[in-house]
Amino acid sequence: MKPKVLAYMRVDDRVIEDLKEDFDVTTFSNEEYLDDPTFTKALQETEGIIGLALQVTKQLLDKAPKLKIVSNVSVGHDNLDLEELTKRNIMATNTPGVLDDTTADAVFGLMLSSARRISELDHHVKSGKWNISLQPDQYGIDVHHKTLGIIGMGSIGQAIAKRANLGFDMNILYHNRTRNKQAEEMYDATYCEKDDLLQQSDFVCLMVPATPETHHMISEREFKLMKPSAIFINGSRGSNVDEMALYHALKNKEIRAAGIDVFQQEPTDPSNPLLSLENIVTTPHIGSSTTECEYNMSKLAAENIKKGLRNEKPPTLLNESVLKNG
Ligand code: GLV
Repeated sequence: MKPKVLAYMRVDDRVIEDLKEDFDVTTFSNEEYLDDPTFTKALQETEGIIGLALQVTKQLLDKAPKLKIVSNVSVGHDNLDLEELTKRNIMATNTPGVLDDTTADAVFGLMLSSARRISELDHHVKSGKWNISLQPDQYGIDVHHKTLGIIGMGSIGQAIAKRANLGFDMNILYHNRTRNKQAEEMYDATYCEKDDLLQQSDFVCLMVPATPETHHMISEREFKLMKPSAIFINGSRGSNVDEMALYHALKNKEIRAAGIDVFQQEPTDPSNPLLSLENIVTTPHIGSSTTECEYNMSKLAAENIKKGLRNEKPPTLLNESVLKNG
């Protein structure tokens, strides 16, 4: 009998077909899977789970006694209780690397769009208001040759630094738990303390994972430290930013603008006050969502689950200690 695998949101159809050669795959493609009694039933028998953003908690694990691996189709893994998974000897994997360039492109899109006011002016043209030439108060600001501060210089941060340094002649500051010598040597990035970065940057770009330590790491105090001309970009996780503090900073022009791909709650409620502001560009968590990148992430996640269920080491295993215990 083939081992049972449960696939939920965001697994590419071609990858599911491929998985079916080795596994008995049950798919839940609609987002209501948690309320679906067949989902709970499938959990009881499943050895592997693959998909995006399922909250893997103690309670869920209690319902999945045969589980050997959880394969996230994302680099972020704040949805996984890693400690609990490790305690139960269950492998956890994510999809780093394959999304670095795609996510860096999306972040640059937000930087360019908010600096040059692209979505605001797109609306201006489409709503028939372009009847006289652009007025000075509608001008944007330059991106090239400005100072970019990157908080979180992991591999996505480094891909952003590459674009900024090689393509836009930007001066790069960064803050990270550990020094990134490669970014320093290759892209001329300068390490500095967080507060210095906030005070000196024209663009502040947040790229840290969501952990208890990073919760609301950008709040009222941090916005007050930024220049009034600063543009704030969040391409990481919504919980890293205090949304009400961002709203007030934008509304009171303590900063110039923001580009936000992630929200405290997703999908965000249409009544979120941030959405009423003109000086913010929003996208619905699209960092890695291109046709190519989604496919590559699904493929890597499938490779992880295949290896894991063959008792081999998955390529991007998060909790290596399960191998020693197993
Ligand atoms: C996307 O946000 C990811 O974590 O892959």
